[in-house]
Amino acid sequence: MGILFAAPQLEFEEIREQWLAAVGELAARGVFVGGQAVQEFESAFARYSGTAGAAGVGNGTDAIFLALKALGIGPGDEVITATNTFVATVEAIHHTGATPVLVDCDPDSYLIDSQQMKDRVTPRTKAVIPVHLYGQMVDVEQWLSWADGKGIAVIEDSAQAAGARLNGKPAGSMGAAGCFSFYPDKNLGALGDGGAVVASDMALLSEIRKLRNHGGETRYTHEIPGYNSRLDAIQALALSMKLRRLDEWSEHRRRVAGLYEHYLGGIPEVVLPAHRGDESHVYHLYVIRVPIGSRDEARRWLQKKGILTAVQYPLPVHLLPAFRHLGYRRGDFPVAEFCAERILSLPIHIGMNEEAVAYVAMHLKEALEFAQSGANRK
Ligand SMILES: Cc1ncc(COP(=O)(O)O)c(C=O)c1O
Repeated sequence: MGILFAAPQLEFEEIREQWLAAVGELAARGVFVGGQAVQEFESAFARYSGTAGAAGVGNGTDAIFLALKALGIGPGDEVITATNTFVATVEAIHHTGATPVLVDCDPDSYLIDSQQMKDRVTPRTKAVIPVHLYGQMVDVEQWLSWADGKGIAVIEDSAQAAGARLNGKPAGSMGAAGCFSFYPDKNLGALGDGGAVVASDMALLSEIRKLRNHGGETRYTHEIPGYNSRLDAIQALALSMKLRRLDEWSEHRRRVAGLYEHYLGGIPEVVLPAHRGDESHVYHLYVIRVPIGSRDEARRWLQKKGILTAVQYPLPVHLLPAFRHLGYRRGDFPVAEFCAERILSLPIHIGMNEEAVAYVAMHLKEALEFAQSGANRK
């Protein structure tokens, strides 16, 4: 049995005929960037997200960058986020000219440590970016009144959490802006790069719409120096079609996660991810922890059995060469560093069933026993 790690190709099969027909019509009209397909997706995604509007952009990194720029964040400002995120969150802060301030995470959920985030606030802090990591939402609601009183904007990095809801509130709907990536592997994935910002402040959205399109909402207006970061129409078509299936697919991912919990529960070397057991987790990734030193050998063993795995992420941002200039050192964020050496992402996608989960669990057990016996032999 071969088990893919992620399976955007299976999702594509679900929309293939409808999308090909729609692309044919679009191409015949000659509208490839922006236009009706993008507007329709933006309206549908804003409705889904419970916000007044949405602005499609080129990718998730730009979604965060443009939201920060639209909020006026730049040199001299500080923006706090987690060190255990995909590098893009921090890149987006860096490119505004603001200083990224990193904090550690919770060892059970891997989500940003809220107390540390509050402790790192200075008079220069202009925004905080909770990352809904692996598809699980940070309890943003608890941050809002705290942040409001200090004039700090909360920007939700929702790149991994499309479809998640905390107490009925969709990811991205609570902060000043919610930023999404539609990279193909994401829970709501395009057939190439794409992203969006959702917000309820129409002035903020208008600013983002200018920034994404050379500084003007309409052609040749150029009110401010902008960028080129727009959503392609053929991506918007695919996203509209997949958005209609998103809740069903999130439910499937939650079922697969429940099966993992069942099948992996008895393996002593495996630490399962903590979760609230509700819709606030959409399992973009299913991340377990295994004993230090076992992981790479276990991954090789699993690969021989046709099971693809990944590590998200092997190094927290504060240890990446790109952000050495921030001045952090090994030991600064012990929880994130501890986790980075032990985390292992198992396959999870709409093509997985109970048989596949049982197969992964059986081979993981063998793999860990093998890796441990190797460690004992040394
Ligand atoms: C947490 C997080 N933030 C931001 C991004 C950036 O999105 P993109 O790759 O679409 O630029 C990603 C996607 O990989 C992500 O996982």
